[in-house]
Amino acid sequence: MMNWDQVFATRAGRMKASEIRELLKLLDQPDIISFAGGIPDARLFPAEAFGAAYAEVLSGPDAVPALQYSVSEGYRPLRDWLVGHMARLGVTCSANNVFIVSGSQQGLDYLGKLFLSPGDTALVTFPAYMGALGAFNAYEPAYDRLDPRSNREVESYRDKAAATGGRVKFAYCVPDFSNPTGETLSRADREAILDLTEALDIPVIEDAAYQALRFDGDNVPSILALDLQRHNGDIDAVRTVYCGSFSKTLSPGLRLGWIVAGKDLIRKLVLAKQAADLHTSTINQAVMAKVATRLFDAQVDTIRAAYRHRRDRMLAALDRHMPKGVQWTRPEGGMFVWVTLPEGMDGADLLAKSLQSQRVAFVPGRAFHADGSGANTLRLSYSCASDEMIDEGIARLGRLIEGEMAGV
Ligand SMILES: Cc1ncc(COP(=O)(O)O)c(C=O)c1O
Repeated sequence: MMNWDQVFATRAGRMKASEIRELLKLLDQPDIISFAGGIPDARLFPAEAFGAAYAEVLSGPDAVPALQYSVSEGYRPLRDWLVGHMARLGVTCSANNVFIVSGSQQGLDYLGKLFLSPGDTALVTFPAYMGALGAFNAYEPAYDRLDPRSNREVESYRDKAAATGGRVKFAYCVPDFSNPTGETLSRADREAILDLTEALDIPVIEDAAYQALRFDGDNVPSILALDLQRHNGDIDAVRTVYCGSFSKTLSPGLRLGWIVAGKDLIRKLVLAKQAADLHTSTINQAVMAKVATRLFDAQVDTIRAAYRHRRDRMLAALDRHMPKGVQWTRPEGGMFVWVTLPEGMDGADLLAKSLQSQRVAFVPGRAFHADGSGANTLRLSYSCASDEMIDEGIARLGRLIEGEMAGV
């Protein structure tokens, strides 16, 4: 028998299956009410529009190029559409600043690859998107906490990074309706992150996967837009690396995301892509260019209305059913509510009990914490849940938590 462990690179040691995966396998069972998956509602995908666009791309004059190899930067009409999209978000850039990736997840992997040597430090929020930690882990970093409201001295970040044998290399955050907390960073928080990253002279990776999904409240400028203001609109001078995604709006199945950054970084990303997969699927990019041009705005309206309703329903159910002492976020968009249980309770324990006795699933919060903290937290997703599931599932969860708090 081959002993694989003795041939794996050290980086493979950081690739670990999550402890909760086993429990979440139960989700396939039909009687489970699941708030665990962080995925878009498939019933909202514009399937017909995609069907028509694939037929067009494959039958018209574009058919041959759509089936051919293409450039690593990405399909030009899609990048051109994204230049217009970014302009609507207050970011003026050219197609040379836009780089297409096979899902923003691939972008996070490339950025980890470009920036992190083993022992270097990544600044991440506690909690942070689990998939980003997974992408970065392969490059063997240490983590330190990104908290825009902390008054820590800049030197303390440098000293901590030196202690693990590296340097602070970037800050990473999800400023809008974050995965997992649903929270949005204020303009002041974004400016504070720019101040800190300027002082450390490091890039800030702005993961904007949920940016389009605002239901209410005021738009907050992206970190990239604020960074541009600091540089008189010169996109090639910014430190922000903006990661966008079509997954939460049009479809995750085509695996399409984009990075907007200064051209020096884009050049390096292109080299990373050439070594990894040459380019993102040509045909999917050609189809997305057509579908985004035709119905991006209408699709975003549809999704916002559906998710806003579910968010409201979930918050109302939490208000009704959660015992005193339990706290939760009130997101202005996105897909998630983050629940904090009283100190001493454990989200993973609660999940095991919940699956067994209540048939309700969610994601315990510890896996989102790079330092292993957050045991008393959990993430609820409302994106795929019906009114009945939300009402019944939150009522059951409330009863379970109340019982646990009473020590029953
Ligand atoms: C915050 C965040 N970033 C990135 C991703 C990855 O998205 P994509 O489908 O674009 O790879 C996700 C997916 O859940 C996410 O929640």
